[in-house]
Amino acid sequence: SASEKGGWSSFMAKEISEQPDAVTNTLRGRIHDGQAVVPELEAFGDDVLAGISRIVIVACGTAAYAGQTAKYAIEKWAKVPVDVELSHEFRYRDPVLTADTLVISISQSGETMDTLMAVKYAREAGAKAISICNTQGATIPRESDAVIYTHAGPEVAVASTKGFTGQIAALYLFALHLARVRNTLSLEELAEQVLELQAIPEKIATTLLQEDAVRQLAVWMTDSRAVLFLGRHVGFPIALEGALKLKELAYIHAEGFAAGELKHGPIALIEPGQPVFVVVPSPRGSAHLHPKVVSNIQEIRARGARIIAIAEQGDAAVLPFADTVFHIPLAGPLFEPLLAVVPLQMFAIELATAKGLDVDQPRNLAKSVTVE
Ligand code: AGP
Repeated sequence: SASEKGGWSSFMAKEISEQPDAVTNTLRGRIHDGQAVVPELEAFGDDVLAGISRIVIVACGTAAYAGQTAKYAIEKWAKVPVDVELSHEFRYRDPVLTADTLVISISQSGETMDTLMAVKYAREAGAKAISICNTQGATIPRESDAVIYTHAGPEVAVASTKGFTGQIAALYLFALHLARVRNTLSLEELAEQVLELQAIPEKIATTLLQEDAVRQLAVWMTDSRAVLFLGRHVGFPIALEGALKLKELAYIHAEGFAAGELKHGPIALIEPGQPVFVVVPSPRGSAHLHPKVVSNIQEIRARGARIIAIAEQGDAAVLPFADTVFHIPLAGPLFEPLLAVVPLQMFAIELATAKGLDVDQPRNLAKSVTVE
């Protein structure tokens, strides 16, 4: 009902705007003396966490993109190899699991059958399982050894938004907790990352202010037949998420690519007028990657692509080549996804709205997929 939406035009619009609070709530009670301390992980004991040799993340859809994003952080901070698997692929290919493999499932609803079956499979094979979940008492957390709830608040819209940012925040807390227990970063280095995480809610709020500009672009792009998304490093899963949001909500063919993969095939898709969203890494934090992505932009621009860049505030290098730029506040390189995803979420909802579509209940989709 309208009152449940609290004055918003849709649950999705409300949930997009709730992301600063969602992330704040995910962090609450899990930071002590500047360090990430996740009480839920105490079920394991530090020695068990320190002894993990490998992490396998299982999830579907948007939750799997949260997992792909967290892989970069977990490997960088805690130095544990991470594989991210779609739950339905994982389970049916005889994966190798040992007692020192930790399986992390990610599910907003906690009821996704594919992911539930993957968790059951992993535990039967002797692995330990942690669940990242947004729904208290759901089935997947009940079938896991421990659960880290995201506390993003109920997500009603079919398309996941605050669920996603909450998942990344929870996974980063996990990664920082793990890095502390494993001694792979100094307490100072850990505290720096914790500060970055704590600064995210306000930065999301700033990013949300570009709504009008996003709407203008969406209205202008209502007739687009296909939209491409490029990203590199943590921007890659964000490109995939941007494409999924657009497919789900606006029924537009959308594809995400790793920017470095462009020359290996996808560049053949570029023709005059083709809209391409590019998630640009920070020129400061990712000084080695930034010029590579800018040169990708130049290559496709020369072939007629229309560039919509998601770039750090003050990134002057992209300006001459972009038709539109959405800015995100400065953040550490691993934290950019939590900001860069926001304009992509807003773009999908605005384009769907401009097309007169039901953004909360896209056709053919269910909020949680409880069948295999
Ligand atoms: C996201 O917008 C989708 N509707 C979908 O991909 C979803 O993320 C996926 O089905 C997983 O759901 P879960 O997080 O509840 O397990």
